[in-house]
Amino acid sequence: MGTFTKIILASICVAYIAVKWTSPTFNEESLRGARVVVTGASTGIGEQIAYHLARFGAQIVITARREKVLQQVAEKCLSLGAQKALYIAADMSSDTDPDRVVDFALEKLGGFDFVILNHIGPSPFTMWGGDVEHTKWLMKVNFFSYIQMAWRSLPSLEQSKGSLVVVSSLLGKMPSPFVAPYTSTKFALNGFFGSLYHELAMKKSNVSLSICTLGLIDTEAAMQKVKDIVAIPAYPASDTALNIIITGATRQQELFYPWFTYVVAITREWFPSMTNYVIQNTYNYTS
Ligand SMILES: NC(=O)c1ccc[n+]([C@@H]2O[C@H](COP(=O)([O-])OP(=O)(O)OC[C@H]3O[C@@H](n4cnc5c(N)ncnc54)[C@H](OP(=O)(O)O)[C@@H]3O)[C@@H](O)[C@H]2O)c1
Ligand SMILES: *[C@@H]1O[C@H](CO)[C@@H](O)[C@H](O)[C@H]1NC(C)=O
Repeated sequence: MGTFTKIILASICVAYIAVKWTSPTFNEESLRGARVVVTGASTGIGEQIAYHLARFGAQIVITARREKVLQQVAEKCLSLGAQKALYIAADMSSDTDPDRVVDFALEKLGGFDFVILNHIGPSPFTMWGGDVEHTKWLMKVNFFSYIQMAWRSLPSLEQSKGSLVVVSSLLGKMPSPFVAPYTSTKFALNGFFGSLYHELAMKKSNVSLSICTLGLIDTEAAMQKVKDIVAIPAYPASDTALNIIITGATRQQELFYPWFTYVVAITREWFPSMTNYVIQNTYNYTS
């Protein structure tokens, strides 16, 4: 076995043990009656987050743009055991909708225990072709609405000693081709909430802040994009959703899911040229 392989294997083991060892235990009961807002909950990971919370007996407000679909998700939440399941249609590219959602949820729930920011606007999976307008729009949806909602939710979370959970991506730590606008929005999230994390700690805030770094997850939107272009394993949205909830409920700073996203992020820092080679040769591209 070469030295290089040994280093990789050793770091994988250390990362795995570190992640397993430091995870506090999760108590489902702690979510009974919890007041939660979930964004981007009409489909994908957000929808699965809503269903898990429903099974735990939480009080939920879900949001996305499509009202009809939200209504169906809310009905299913009630049948799964949610104490409350309300929905509000909103467009996160608007200047005012992020505040409107927070105000609606505060009024209906009377406060927050968890705020889970998860939505993303659709973005093409292609080489950058100069569409600055799309990137500005995506920044509004994927970034500015997050900081707006987070700030407006903080006073209530302070009162309840609640948790703010931000769903990000490995692409918020490691850029890769075909996603320049998307990766920019996720880097922005990691930067902003990384800074806010320090400030909350320095203020001795009651609020816990978690950032979730996800790999490829098998949602319809993601699968549709990567098919024929990359062949990397995709992980189940339902398991992802449960891990996101546990991360918030146990007040952990970070989630890496699947766990090897942690190793990938470190490998990129340690071995940049090898990582670049692997990334550029993972994608089907003929010029
Ligand atoms: N799937 C993956 O492989 C993967 C990998 C890494 C990270 N993540 C992260 O995981 C999170 C969820 O991803 P996903 O794959 O579940 O996404 P998805 O299936 O595309 O769902 C996106 C959600 O956002 C909503 N949305 C879209 N545009 C909106 C807008 N302008 N205003 C308000 N809501 C809007 C959508 O509903 P409407 O269309 O009804 O508005 C939908 O509920 C995202 O933060 C994503 O970056 C996913
Ligand atoms: C934290 O919560 C307590 C109530 O449990 C409250 O008195 C205190 O003001 C809160 N801290 C902040 C920074 O709001």
